Amino acid sequence: MKIAITGANGYIGQELIYILKERGHKIFALNRQQLYGQPETLAASLENTDAVINLAGAPILQRWTKFNQSVIYNSRVVTTRNLTQAINLLAPGNRPRIFVSASAVGIYQTGQSHDDSSSKFDPGFLGKLVTDWEKASDELPVDVRKVTFRIGVVLGRESHTIKKMLPLFKLGLGGKLGNGQQPFPFIHIHDLVLAFYQSLEDETFTGIYNLVAPDQTTNQRFTQLLAKKLKGPAFFKVPCFMLKLIYGRASEIILKGQRVIPNRLLSKGFMFQYPDISACIEEILQLNGSKSS
Ligand SMILES: NC(=O)c1ccc[n+]([C@@H]2O[C@H](COP(=O)([O-])OP(=O)(O)OC[C@H]3O[C@@H](n4cnc5c(N)ncnc54)[C@H](OP(=O)(O)O)[C@@H]3O)[C@@H](O)[C@H]2O)c1
Repeated sequence: MKIAITGANGYIGQELIYILKERGHKIFALNRQQLYGQPETLAASLENTDAVINLAGAPILQRWTKFNQSVIYNSRVVTTRNLTQAINLLAPGNRPRIFVSASAVGIYQTGQSHDDSSSKFDPGFLGKLVTDWEKASDELPVDVRKVTFRIGVVLGRESHTIKKMLPLFKLGLGGKLGNGQQPFPFIHIHDLVLAFYQSLEDETFTGIYNLVAPDQTTNQRFTQLLAKKLKGPAFFKVPCFMLKLIYGRASEIILKGQRVIPNRLLSKGFMFQYPDISACIEEILQLNGSKSS
């Protein structure tokens, strides 16, 4: 397939591109100039592609000032809307057949359980951001198969979360965030890549999927296991006030959480390679495993 990718330079983008190229697909990155530019120019670059993978998005974990909020919002909602508009400009025979987009479990209300059909959405900035992000591709032509993955915290050797936490834990300075009781919906990068890959190949993939491991865990269990496997302590605790001081309202992303259940993937028979947090951490801490990250 000839596949166009937005957010190609990001963590997930790089991991996906590695696997897709390895399996013989032709990949090309859509840059920001194209994404924010004229729809006609974007349409021209999408002509005769088979699929679009939409991953663009500025980091969410930063202070939600007015300016940052607009960058975070536009990088997802405006870009997705522009892609949708561009695809609509193409004649049916020339347009991509598949549109696979990242979304996030942050759409859901915290402190509750959600399967893929839940409509209990977060009432704040995060909920609006992700709802509008998903809606931005509502107007795709009906012949384009659309798959949306509501992704949990991605864990892998090179993932943002692990790269931030591991150095502290290796020094024995790691610990839970806040009281640690907040749910921690996660997904190993290998499982994420597999799900994206299967959604391209398997025509029966369509609609919204929670992309999280089936294991229901908490921040405390995750941090304790990480410390235990590194044979270090985890008695430190990063207090709520400190995270609020650093991130302001955005600290809710790490201090609160949702229980998320990947019902649709499970009923499809999706084989999670890392269904529980223990297996996931073990893979990440292995020093000489296969390429991943
Ligand atoms: N990683 C996670 O734990 C996680 C969890 C849930 C959802 N997601 C979502 O999955 C997507 C990919 O995540 P990731 O971990 O790969 O993120 P990432 O490493 O931060 O990469 C995101 C990419 O988005 C593009 N981007 C950044 N700022 C932008 C802007 N202002 N306008 C347009 N594009 C911009 C950049 O790609 P280019 O330089 O190629 O343009 C960047 O490399 C994101 O939308 C993210 O919200 C990630």
